[in-house]
Amino acid sequence: MNISVLGTGYVGLVTGVCLSEIGHDVTCIDIDQDKINKMSVGISPIFEPGLNELMLTNINKGRLHFTADHHQGLADKDIIYIAVETPQKEDGSADLRFIVRAAKDIVCHIKKDVIVVIKSTVPVGTNKFIKELILDNLTKDIKVDIISNPEFLREGSAINDTFYGDRIVIGSENESAASILEEVYKPFRVPVFKTDIYSAEMIKYASNAFLAAKISFINEMAHICDKVGANIDDVAKGMGQDKRIGPDFLSAGIGYGGSCFPKDTQALVKMAEDIQYKPIITKAAIEVNECQQTLLVEKAKKYFGNLLGKRLALLGLTYKPNTDDVRGSPAIPISKQLLKESAEIIAYDPAGIGKARTILPSRIQYAGSLDEALLNADLAFLLTEWNEVTGSLLRKACQLMKEPIIFDGRNCFSLDEVRKLNIEYHSIGRPP
Ligand code: UGA
Repeated sequence: MNISVLGTGYVGLVTGVCLSEIGHDVTCIDIDQDKINKMSVGISPIFEPGLNELMLTNINKGRLHFTADHHQGLADKDIIYIAVETPQKEDGSADLRFIVRAAKDIVCHIKKDVIVVIKSTVPVGTNKFIKELILDNLTKDIKVDIISNPEFLREGSAINDTFYGDRIVIGSENESAASILEEVYKPFRVPVFKTDIYSAEMIKYASNAFLAAKISFINEMAHICDKVGANIDDVAKGMGQDKRIGPDFLSAGIGYGGSCFPKDTQALVKMAEDIQYKPIITKAAIEVNECQQTLLVEKAKKYFGNLLGKRLALLGLTYKPNTDDVRGSPAIPISKQLLKESAEIIAYDPAGIGKARTILPSRIQYAGSLDEALLNADLAFLLTEWNEVTGSLLRKACQLMKEPIIFDGRNCFSLDEVRKLNIEYHSIGRPP
């Protein structure tokens, strides 16, 4: 198939690269010429394990191309993916500016019948709206089908998720267009679920809201464990053995972050409120998450009395390990609150410092290594469970900190282990 992908963010680039890997001829389009120049020689603008290698292989095989020229990228394709961002507007709703622009570009440049596949996360009704926009503006005699094909990949394991995902959702009004897309994905060997367009759009929001609620639920249980002396890790294990509950997404911690769960839950709330429905569970999941993100600061204040002038090693700035993405990271509200408490922050992250500098408050100092962050620190906050950090943190905390005092926002260590090392250790929903 001759395919193009509009937008080279996480979803667009990974989709384009993986489609080329299974043999399709793929052109990725972006308006940023500098980004295009780099990607054309195999340099990925995002940190994603395995992506650079796959890009290089497929560029060299001549089936992965990059362009900022929309005519060249769109004119004669069989399938065009829209994978542009849908950022959050101030009222919580999804900003559809970039999708609309992509649709207008398609109208301008297509020369033959085409299937337009919307991968971006969009409110229910958007696919149909985009279809009407394209058909209303099209002056040529061309057939355009629209398919809603939401994305379920996770940053940090995006390639694996594309090749071995749980399902591919195809929402369409046209059975033959849906079958063509099903055929495109055949080499992935991922189960395909075909449905109507509205349901496909809704599956994406419902899935992310459910996962966010699962995390907030376990975090709520962790609060109760903290008060009654139970251990949330054991509680989650015991719950997860029930097949109806399942063991995944039950890790208590400082709450979910990233560019998806926070934005998509807010957009779902807005979508529901627009139809006069109060989405009680989704709103509660958001509220629990907001409280969760500052829990470590409360615990440290309780332990020290106040944090005035305390030298604090802030370990992990990305919203989860194996990514350089700091968007929506719990490190943002936590660092703001720590500065309000007049703590001195020395931050370290294996991959996220570059992006953190543009997002976190400017008064934070950055360390070039874990050792530098820990040296003479009064306390350490562990925010992201990077292997590079957790592998040596306990030993280094004993060697380098004034006294080893750790507040662990991800429950990375066993209580036996820290007790043996005489570390003052506070975690989430487990006895001190
Ligand atoms: C999430 C979904 O998992 C993907 O299926 C979806 O495609 C994606 O959003 C999206 O909408 O694009 P992602 O944001 O990359 O993917 O990351 P996750 O691995 O889901 O983690 C999200 C957040 O939840 C992280 O901050 C993580 O630390 C936190 N989390 C996750 C927990 O606090 N506890 C858990 O048990 C699991």
